[in-house]
Amino acid sequence: MKKTILTGDRATGRLHVGHLLGSLENRVKFQDEYNQFILIANIQGLTDNFLDPKKIRDSIPELILDYYAVGIDFNKSTVFIQSMIPQIHEIFIYISNFATVQQISHNPTIKTEILQKNYGESTPLGFYIYPVHQVADILSVRGELVPVGPGEVPQVEEAREIVRKFNSTYNVNILKEPHELLGVPKNVPGIDGNEKMGKSLNNCIYLSDSEEELKKKIFSMKTDPNRIHATDPGTVEGNTIFIYHSLFNSNLNEVEDLKERYRKGAVSDVEVKDKLFKAMNTVLTPIREKRLEGEKLLNELTLKVVNENTKKVQSIAKDVVEEIKEIVFQSFK
Ligand code: TRP
Repeated sequence: MKKTILTGDRATGRLHVGHLLGSLENRVKFQDEYNQFILIANIQGLTDNFLDPKKIRDSIPELILDYYAVGIDFNKSTVFIQSMIPQIHEIFIYISNFATVQQISHNPTIKTEILQKNYGESTPLGFYIYPVHQVADILSVRGELVPVGPGEVPQVEEAREIVRKFNSTYNVNILKEPHELLGVPKNVPGIDGNEKMGKSLNNCIYLSDSEEELKKKIFSMKTDPNRIHATDPGTVEGNTIFIYHSLFNSNLNEVEDLKERYRKGAVSDVEVKDKLFKAMNTVLTPIREKRLEGEKLLNELTLKVVNENTKKVQSIAKDVVEEIKEIVFQSFK
């Protein structure tokens, strides 16, 4: 029996090369070994974008195309849309009794996000509950494994704790404790040198960017600020262009040669950037081509997600809800 994976993305925009190395490449591998569900989290996307629902709506076809473009096989992975599975919210309300305000307020991700967004006491409730709602996402497909980076392990631990409390309180074993599936973390910094690539930071290279956009973005990247002439010796460490070379350029000899000449002051920024452009373009060209092919199939893919996959996930989630209600309310369910 294949184990079940639940993974997903908030529907807040197109996917970028950070997603590619951080999660998408793994998903393409996982879909053979595992029973993989990919959630398009439009409701969670709404929690901090509820003033702009169009952004969320418009992101859904973009995500479908990005998935297709990187090689997600819609016959192997089950892509589904959160708002089409109301059972998730039912599951949420039952498990929410086993999470505490204190637990959420100490969640490192929530803490940082509340600070960043300057929410304070006015934090929208919908946003505040999302870590518990994510647990309901996992439980709705009886997810056993959640692919995460090392920073997200506490989230999955929290999920286990909620499930354990639920099961032990009602003396049942109906909910499965999810576990983290740790990947090798490959973090792609933003083109501005920021530690993270993020849509709101405006520092992304998108999978759907054209060749021209890619080139423009790479040529806008800062290199060693202390190096003014191509003949000045430069620093490779912490230099965004070289971080990108190590992540995207598969020609290791070329990267070594560029580093060596950069340190000596025997290469221009233009050459380093142009070689990065060529390397990234080699990675992104097949993705771009497959995305175009996907545009022709978009109706078909969307229908599968909306009809077939909604039915499939609902049928699993309904059973989960039934089991919970049976335990809690028995004949009054
Ligand atoms: N929060 C995830 C993201 O930002 C998407 C997501 C929603 C998710 N629910 C989940 C991921 C449950 C794993 C498990 O992309």
